[in-house]
Amino acid sequence: MPPPATDDPDLGPALQELGCRAGAELALGGVPASELAARFGTPLYVFDAGVLRQRVAAVRAALGPRVELLWSVKANPSLAVTRCLRLAGAGAEVASLGELHLALAAGHAAGDLRFAGPGKTEAEIHAATALGLGCFHAESEAEIDAIAAAARAGGRRTAVAIRTNLPDELAGSRLRMGGRSSRFGVDADQVPDLLRRFADHADVHLAGLHVYAGTQCFDASAFVRHATSLVEHALRWERDTGVPLDELDLGGGFGIGLYAGDPTFDLAAAGQGIQALVAAHDRPGRRWFVELGRYLAAPAGVYLARVVGTKRSGGERHAVLDGGLHHAAAAAGMGTVLKRAPLLVHAAGLQATALEPVTLGGPLCTPADQFAERLALPPLAPGDLVAVLRAGAYGLSFSPHGFLGHPTPAEVLVGDGPPRLVRRRGDPRDVLRDQTP
Ligand SMILES: Cc1ncc(COP(=O)(O)O)c(C=O)c1O
Repeated sequence: MPPPATDDPDLGPALQELGCRAGAELALGGVPASELAARFGTPLYVFDAGVLRQRVAAVRAALGPRVELLWSVKANPSLAVTRCLRLAGAGAEVASLGELHLALAAGHAAGDLRFAGPGKTEAEIHAATALGLGCFHAESEAEIDAIAAAARAGGRRTAVAIRTNLPDELAGSRLRMGGRSSRFGVDADQVPDLLRRFADHADVHLAGLHVYAGTQCFDASAFVRHATSLVEHALRWERDTGVPLDELDLGGGFGIGLYAGDPTFDLAAAGQGIQALVAAHDRPGRRWFVELGRYLAAPAGVYLARVVGTKRSGGERHAVLDGGLHHAAAAAGMGTVLKRAPLLVHAAGLQATALEPVTLGGPLCTPADQFAERLALPPLAPGDLVAVLRAGAYGLSFSPHGFLGHPTPAEVLVGDGPPRLVRRRGDPRDVLRDQTP
C-alpha cells in the first residue's frame, strides 16, 4: 500500500514545512484549505508568511553575517510577499521598472535596490536613476554608457556592478545562463578593458561584479566553485587594472524540489563553502550578496483548485479543475524539458492510502493544460480541492494568464495575522481592459 501524502518522500517534506504533519486536511498558516477556499474562492494562491520568514532566517544563518541576502522579485512580484521578505531581513533585486516600483511600494529604499536584466532601455535607466536606484547590474558596455548618460543628466554618480559571464558554467543547474555565448552579462575576457575604461569615471562608480549563471542548482559544491571563480577573477582583475571591486554578488538559483524525485539542495554545505570563501577574501568596504527567488518563495506557496468534473475516457479517470496552466504554468510543465507531475495533493486526503490513478487538467482548450497523467490520488469528486505544493515562485507572473480570458486567481496571505486577501480575483470582463474596437 502506498504511504499517505504526509509520509511520501517528496510530498512529506513540502507538507511538513507548511506545518502539516498528521492531519487529514491540508492547512495553511493553521487554517484548513477548505476554509480558505470557501472564503476566498478558487482558484487561489495562498502564501504563508511564516514559511517566508523561516526561509529567510535559515538562509541568512547558513550564509553568515557578512553576506547580504537579496530577494529576486521576479520570482513572485507580490507586494505582500515582497514586504514580508523585507521585514524578515531580505534586500531586493529587480529586473524591470515595474519591479522597482513594486519594491518601493513594499517599503524598500531605492538606494538599497539593485537592477539587473538585459535590454534595459534608456527610458528605464533614466527613470531608475531619477528614483535614486542603488546599483545597476550592467549587462553590456553600451548599457554602462547609457547609465553614465543618465547619471550625468541627473547630476548624481551612479554605482554599477558588471554582470560577468564567467567561462565556467554553473554545473548542476537545470537552466544555465552563462559560461557560453550569451546575452546575459559581459564575457570575462572583455571585463578588464571595461574596468580600465570606466575607472575614475565622473558619472559611474564601478562598485564590483555580479554573476548569475543558472537556476535550480541542486549541487551546493558546484555553486561554491562558481562563486569562487568569480572571486578569483575579481582578485586578478583588481591586480591587473588597479580598480577595486568591492561588491561581489555571487548570484542565486539554489534548487528546490518541485517534482517527484527532485534532489535536495544542501543549504548547510553551500553556506559553509560561501562562509569560507568570504572569510578568505573579506576586507573593509567589501559587500557580499546572494540573490534568491525560488528557494525563498516556492515552499511558502500553494495553488488551490477545485474539481469541476470527473469522467472516464479510454478506461481512464480524468478530473477537470477550475485552475490550470494559465495560473500555474510551471506545475503544468511549461519551461521544463521533461514533463513530470508537480507535488500535488488531494487537500482533504493527506492520510488516505486508497489511491487511484487520475489524469488532471485545467479548463484551457489545449492538451498542454495538464498537471499530471495517471497520478495516484485519493478518489476525486466534483467540488474536491486539490493543491499544488511549492507553488510560491514563478506562478501567476510566469503563466500565460491572458490565454482564453479566464480571470486571474485571488491571492491570500496567511501566517501574518488573520488570512487576508493580497490580490483581488480578476473579473471575466478583464479581457476588455485597455482595448478599443
Ligand atoms: C539575475 C537573476 N538573479 C536571480 C534570479 C533568481 O533565480 P532563482 O529564482 O532560481 O533563485 C534570476 C532568475 O532568473 C536571475 O535572472
